[in-house]
Formats: sequence, structure tokens, C-alpha cells
Amino acid sequence: MRLKDKVAIVTGGARGLGKSFSIALAKEGARIMVADITDFQETISEIESLGGVAKGIRVDVSIEEDTLKMAEQTFHTFGRIDILINNAAIIYGLLRKPFFEIDPEVWDKVMRVNVKGPWLCTKAVFPYMKQQGKGKIINLSSETFFTGSHGFVHYVASKGGVVGLTRALAVELGPYNININAVAPGFTDTEASRSIADVTKYDTSRTPLGRLEKPEDLVGAVIFLASDESDFITGQTLLVDGGRVMH
Ligand code: NAI
Repeated sequence: MRLKDKVAIVTGGARGLGKSFSIALAKEGARIMVADITDFQETISEIESLGGVAKGIRVDVSIEEDTLKMAEQTFHTFGRIDILINNAAIIYGLLRKPFFEIDPEVWDKVMRVNVKGPWLCTKAVFPYMKQQGKGKIINLSSETFFTGSHGFVHYVASKGGVVGLTRALAVELGPYNININAVAPGFTDTEASRSIADVTKYDTSRTPLGRLEKPEDLVGAVIFLASDESDFITGQTLLVDGGRVMH
């Protein structure tokens, strides 16, 4: 077990990738706090059925008070915070629109959750990680930051914001021995991606590994970045997309 005795917060852990990350980290021995705006019981029950330990908390990652409660509650419940997975984001049901038709309120909401959210969550766990002299933070960016994506300027800009956040925070968190990296998935088969596109029509001919990405394809990278094996890696963005984008 590579994360034995570690404690991990997974934002947006109720479904999709966050659920897969929660289960995968639990299988590696971590105790999990599932932090989501929506019902997370399914993730908790699944972890418990595998013999793991998980609790949940209702959080809106874009509200500072909620993120502070999330960190306090995690520390109170488990006595430490080792890992933060900043996975929650607005993607589900997000409408593709030409940039000149995007409603400024939708723009603000995407930025608030996708960029301000990871910043606030990082701010909230920082005192605990600083005290422990170690921490691992993993942000979810997106392949679309490297390629652009039609009708998705708000989302793509937000995921570029995550790359910027990762780099800038790596500089500030390094002296405290806190690593922060990003994982950039390609188009992955989740409820959210099904809500924005027809996954069966996704063109995999440009993917060297030749198939649609599944949530399980991402867990290896996340476990690696959460574990001691990545102790000298920070500020990086790791593309996990079957080789579609190379940089
Ligand atoms: P999803 O929509 O299924 O999951 C997002 C989770 O975040 C949900 O459980 C939702 O309730 C939660 N959430 C949303 N707003 C929140 C808020 N304000 N506070 C707390 N929780 C909130 O999305 P999916 O597909 O699992 O994506 C997960 C992450 O991976 C996101 O950051 C997404 O941008 C990124 N990603 C996903 C890709 C895909 O193809 N599915 C591709 C590239 C990146």
C-alpha cells in the first residue's frame, strides 16, 4: 500500500473522476474525506464495502467558509491532512457556445469553481500541511488547455488557470515541502463528458493508444503524485491522454 496512514481530501468525489480517485486512494490505504456540493454517499459506501475508511462533507469549493470547514473537519476526524485532490469543477452540462455568446455570469461561475476553488482549498489545507512539514496537492487541468476546444473558452481558460495556479503555488509551497502538480486528462468517459458530447462519436484515430480514456486510466498518475515516490516533482502538469498531445 503506497498511501498507508495518509489522509486525503478529494473535492468533487461524489461521482466521475473524483469518485474513482477516492476509491483508488482508499485502496492504497488512505483515509478519504469526500468533499462535494452533492450527495457523496455512494462513494463512501463503495469505499467501506472494500474495507476502506471514508467520510464526507458538503462543500462548495468556491466559498471560503466551506473550504475552511472542510479542512477543520478533516483534521478533527482524521488528525492530519496529507493529500488534497482539487478535482471539483464545472464541466457537467456546460453548454458549448461561441465565445461572443457566453453569458458573463456563466463565465464567472466557471472561474469561481474551477480556479478560485482550488486556490481556496489549497489555502484551507496549507496550515495543516505546513505544520506537518509535508503535503501533496494535485489539481485537475485538462488536455483542452493544450489544444483549445470549440465553444468552451470559459472552461479552457479555467483549466489554463489551473496550470498557472499550479506553477505559482509550487514556487510558494516548495519551501514548506508541499508539492503541487496538475494532471491533465484527455476526453474521458464520465457522466459529465456524456452530458457535453456523444462519447461514442469521439475520434480516437488521433490518439496513439487508440481508444477512449476511462477514469481508471488516470488513477495511476494521481496515486504517484500523491505518494512519496514523487517527492522531488512539483509545479508540473502531467498529460494523461493516450499520447494525443505531446509537449
Ligand atoms: P463531474 O461533473 O462528473 O464531477 C465533478 C464533481 O465536482 C461532481 O461530483 C460535482 O458535484 C462536484 N462539484 C461541482 N461543483 C462543485 C463545487 N462548487 N463544490 C464542490 N463540488 C463541486 O466531472 P468529471 O468528468 O468527473 O471531471 C472531474 C475533473 O476532471 C474536473 O476538474 C474536470 O474539469 C476534469 N476533466 C475531466 C475530463 C473529462 O473528459 N471528464 C477531461 C479533462 C479534465
